[in-house]
Amino acid sequence: MENFVFSNKTELIFGRGVEQQVGQKVSACAKKVLLHYGGGSIKRTGLYDRITASLRESGVDFIELGGVQPNPRVTLVRQGIELCRKEGVDFILAVGGGSVIDSAKAIGVGVPYDGDVWDFFARKAAPEATLPVGVVLTIPAAGSESSNSMVITNEEGLLKKGYNTVLIRPQFAFLNPELTYTLPFYQTACGASDMLAHIMERYFTTVQHVDVSDRMCEGVMRSILFNAPILKDQPENYDARAEIMLAGTIAHNDSLQPGRIGDWASHGIEHELSAIYDIAHGAGLAIIFPAWMRYVYHTDINRFVQFAVRVMDVDLSFGDPEAIVEEGIRRLEAFYQRMELPIRLHEIGIDASRFEEMAQKAAPRGAFQVLDAGDICKIFELAL
Ligand code: NZQ
Ligand code: ZN
Repeated sequence: MENFVFSNKTELIFGRGVEQQVGQKVSACAKKVLLHYGGGSIKRTGLYDRITASLRESGVDFIELGGVQPNPRVTLVRQGIELCRKEGVDFILAVGGGSVIDSAKAIGVGVPYDGDVWDFFARKAAPEATLPVGVVLTIPAAGSESSNSMVITNEEGLLKKGYNTVLIRPQFAFLNPELTYTLPFYQTACGASDMLAHIMERYFTTVQHVDVSDRMCEGVMRSILFNAPILKDQPENYDARAEIMLAGTIAHNDSLQPGRIGDWASHGIEHELSAIYDIAHGAGLAIIFPAWMRYVYHTDINRFVQFAVRVMDVDLSFGDPEAIVEEGIRRLEAFYQRMELPIRLHEIGIDASRFEEMAQKAAPRGAFQVLDAGDICKIFELAL
């Protein structure tokens, strides 16, 4: 096990109806608030009305900026920064999913910074301060509600880049599973795929003696595999929604990280796909992860046997570890298919024409096995 420091400041307020307390919570930490949201789902579901009513009841002064797109764009972030400066905003309330939260985080670090916010993503500067961000989560997926990362797309050059710093962990997150009843099944499925990927990125490590966190990862993965398919026929099953919402947060708030070194190649490779083809992140991961597994498992076959046996319940003869690994990957793919996600690039109309370009942009990647552009091209070919 590696040395580690664990801290996570995000207060989680979980359960039925909790978002009614948002005005009270925000009024304690803000004078002027930016209410930030996406393309309109919160208006259709009535959540917008409840949030604004709660803010008004608590006397919170707020302005708003909607229109965040999935794969959030730096252009809107820049508009948000200007707006916050002009209006003297001192707190950002993100109501939505990973895209809205990441846009809010980027606005937050952009406001006190003299240069252009893209400098952070281009690694030309590091943020030193931020406006605080609070969250009302509407889709369990990215885990941004208590993660230390943000991922933004720059339309110029079709770049999608992440940035990690503990500065940007939200102050609080309201997590009401009922708010996720309205999700189309495709978005629920993409969310399940993303949270599973966040755990697998951590699980596939070359660090030895990480038994406690191995078993924590395995438990949460098994819970996702069990509960997510229930939501196909029962979108209003509170218990399954609650398990998935908790899993999505735990998957990416570093609770499962202690003492490990994560891989993150599949995420890096997927970001190149969603930058160019604007596909949902969770769908891209369902395609890339199995291909990555097939390409790298020889680096430590025992770890993949452990995954197949303990997570995927594979029960084949121990004399043939390769067959055990392949069956584990096949069962992971069967889960994605049950969730109606694509598992190959051709299913979503992507051909090999830009493999080289994406591989060059992504490389080098990974810690379980360090991948160069040639390796990444081969992974794309396996995913075709
Ligand atoms: O925009 P609206 O109209 O709100 O619709 C959204 C959007 O179209 C819809 N939706 C959300 N809640 C809903 C709902 N529809 C009906 N009912 C509800 N309750 O769902 C769609 C997807 O929303 P989005 O926020 O894009 O999804 P997600 O949470 O999966 O976020 C994806 C983004 O997060 C990044 C991804 O790369 C991607 O850009 N990630 C961020 C991470 C982080 N900050 O820690 C880590 C992740 O690995 C990931 O990279
Ligand atoms: Zn992800």
